Amino acid sequence: MSKEFKVTPWEVTGDIDYDKVVKDFGVQIIDKKLLERIKKHTGELHPTLRRNLFFAHRDLNWILDEYEKGNKFFLYTGRGPSGNTHLGHLFPWFLTKWLQDKFDVKLFFQMTDDEKFLTNSKLDIETTKHFAYENALDVIALGFNPKKTKIYSDYDNAKTFYYHATRVAKKITFSTAKATFGFGNDTNVGQIFYTSMQAVPAFLESVEQGKNIPCLIPHAIDQDPHFRVARDVMPKLGYYKPASVQGMFMPGLVEGGKMSASKPDSAIFTTDDLKTAKKKVMSAFTGGQASIEEQRKKGGNSEICSVFSYFKFIFEENDAKLEKRQKACKEGKILCGECKKDLSERVVKFLEKHQEKREKAKDVLDKFLVKD
Ligand code: TYM
Repeated sequence: MSKEFKVTPWEVTGDIDYDKVVKDFGVQIIDKKLLERIKKHTGELHPTLRRNLFFAHRDLNWILDEYEKGNKFFLYTGRGPSGNTHLGHLFPWFLTKWLQDKFDVKLFFQMTDDEKFLTNSKLDIETTKHFAYENALDVIALGFNPKKTKIYSDYDNAKTFYYHATRVAKKITFSTAKATFGFGNDTNVGQIFYTSMQAVPAFLESVEQGKNIPCLIPHAIDQDPHFRVARDVMPKLGYYKPASVQGMFMPGLVEGGKMSASKPDSAIFTTDDLKTAKKKVMSAFTGGQASIEEQRKKGGNSEICSVFSYFKFIFEENDAKLEKRQKACKEGKILCGECKKDLSERVVKFLEKHQEKREKAKDVLDKFLVKD
């Protein structure tokens, strides 16, 4: 397989070498000691932490130091609303919800409708704003605490956000932005400015409370460049550097690469009808052999199997059962058709419930949305 890969906030392609990303980005690995430290507070570990799917961080020890001193953090995460939400987007939100429940903290969720207008030539402002509301329904459907969760659309909060974004922007030179994001002469100036908007929710709560409050940002590792820049700027404005917990990418259902909204068959969207979702799973790429006989003899390869990774990332919380499935696959005792059927049943069950909650979320949307 090709060793070529790319991880930027706007493009994730190829076979990602996470060790190299860790080195290049300068993030820390979440090791056993840190997991034990988290467990001391949470009693158990979320499956995505246990399985090292959230594998890297910045300043997580400091967040826990502050927490232990009674200085609670808030959570911040977000979504660039370029279309419907897919399961890959939900992946960091599941951990975020778990962290909110375990630590009983506030969550600020940013819908970057401006970002998606600026970076996607096919989308107009009304469309990205529309998807900001659509995606907000998915956030609410996951059950975040309504008393402790606020959702911001950048356009709807332009007055507050622009004010603070300019404070950030003034401290970022073009040369830093260029070196961090690889911008060229053909990059529009809105995109160059944009990283300042994504920095705002990392300190807005400190502005509003009139004191410094630690911020923890769960996200997949593609978003790290934004926060690397924000971490340099924030102390210059008198705020703490935001901490983060960083995840791997949930692969697509077709061979190679992550789930992508631009390749609809590679992803299951929360709005897919159940028949379509089932069909996508049943035609997914697996690590199986060419024939049943060969599969029985040689076994399958769960390492490259998208169906297995769906179990691992979301749909099998029980470690022993996951291991049993992997072993059965390796030994040729289970066939791809059986795994696909099991997964499709779980996906359908999840979607059925999620879509119901998504409908109900429409009644409470206004309670979550902040407007200037
Ligand atoms: P966006 O909309 O590209 O992605 C939303 C969140 O999902 C993560 N993600 C994935 N995680 C696992 N597997 C995948 N296949 C996958 N695809 C996307 C992203 O890392 C992200 O956490 N600029 C951001 C929006 C944003 C934001 C934030 C994200 C604003 N503030 C703070 C995280 C934290 C964006 O376009 O995300």
